[in-house]
Amino acid sequence: MVTKIERLGVIGGGQMGGGIAEVGARAGLDVIVCEVSDEAARAGRTRLWKSLNHAVQKGKLTEAERDAAQARLHFTTTLADLDDRNMVIEAIAEDEELKTKLFAELDKVVSDPDAILASNTSSIPIAKLASATKRPQQVLGVHFFNPVPVLKLVELVPSLLTSEETVERAAAFATEQLGKETIRAKDRSGFVVNALLVPYLLSAIRMVEGGFASAEDVDKGMVLGCAHPMGPLRLSDLVGLDTLKAIADSMHEEYGDPNFIAPPLLRRMVEAGLKGKKSGKGFYDYS
Ligand code: CAA
Ligand code: NAD
Repeated sequence: MVTKIERLGVIGGGQMGGGIAEVGARAGLDVIVCEVSDEAARAGRTRLWKSLNHAVQKGKLTEAERDAAQARLHFTTTLADLDDRNMVIEAIAEDEELKTKLFAELDKVVSDPDAILASNTSSIPIAKLASATKRPQQVLGVHFFNPVPVLKLVELVPSLLTSEETVERAAAFATEQLGKETIRAKDRSGFVVNALLVPYLLSAIRMVEGGFASAEDVDKGMVLGCAHPMGPLRLSDLVGLDTLKAIADSMHEEYGDPNFIAPPLLRRMVEAGLKGKKSGKGFYDYS
């Protein structure tokens, strides 16, 4: 039987976790966001409140709907507060070791035996996360796209051990409750979209690195020449250069394909703290 999700947990209140929490609360769910520190929780809350206010300004939400969504959003730094959730979506940094450790802890915390434990990972195989738990049949990838309130897609990624019931419940959650569209992908690093998108973004970075064209011209080429909403360098900045590098590393580990090797320029920028839009500077300046 497909049961509705009423109480959602989101781990990580960054760009993606914040976006997932926002669409969840706007859809009427009770949402708890778990962050690493009070400071990170405060920053996540501020971003979320700003986004909800922006939606009001744009006429997409009434003030009463914003207030109701805010009342449904709670923040914590204690993982154990997620004990009563029907579904938890992990959206912490793209780091296999951190995520695996977190799934092992989460498994001990969530008391509902039917709860779904999902990851928003961009590239880490779901089986690795599932096998850290005692309920791998209830673990799957539920991969949202950035910015979450705008982009309609959710990739559903069952591992070899995920039950069909879990996939159906996650699909109903994404479509009927959040109003998203889904596609299914096999449990291979990068799934469908990033397997196509990431080599393109890395190629654009190599073009700039090699002095072939400026970041502005590469972007202008793809916006005006191919009608993309934004060019690959601006999109890399939006994704986060640290996240893009982590995705490239995990896809390279999976396939050994040189097209997935993070170019030295990307590595140097991440090492220099230039993480793109979220840090204020990447290929472009956002200050
Ligand atoms: N939250 C909520 N709404 C937002 C938003 C955000 N963060 N950013 C933009 N919007 C809304 C704006 O309010 C605006 O709404 P209206 O049309 O109602 O006015 C609309 O989106 C368009 O925004 P803008 O006019 O400011 O700017 P734009 O037309 O350039 O659109 C964009 C911005 C939506 C980001 C668009 O450029 C776009 O879709 N870019 C491509 C994004 C993309 O490819 N994302 C996928 C990344 S890969 C990924 O997510 C997977 C992974 O694992 C890495
Ligand atoms: P982000 O850096 O904006 O946010 C990550 C957040 O997780 C931070 O606020 C951090 O404080 C928090 N965090 C780290 N460890 C934690 C822990 N143990 N417990 C609680 N919170 C913790 O990153 P993001 O862009 O939101 O990406 C998050 C995940 O979503 C990654 O797996 C990424 O690959 C995936 N993803 C990213 C995008 C994108 O475009 N950025 C798109 C789809 C999926």
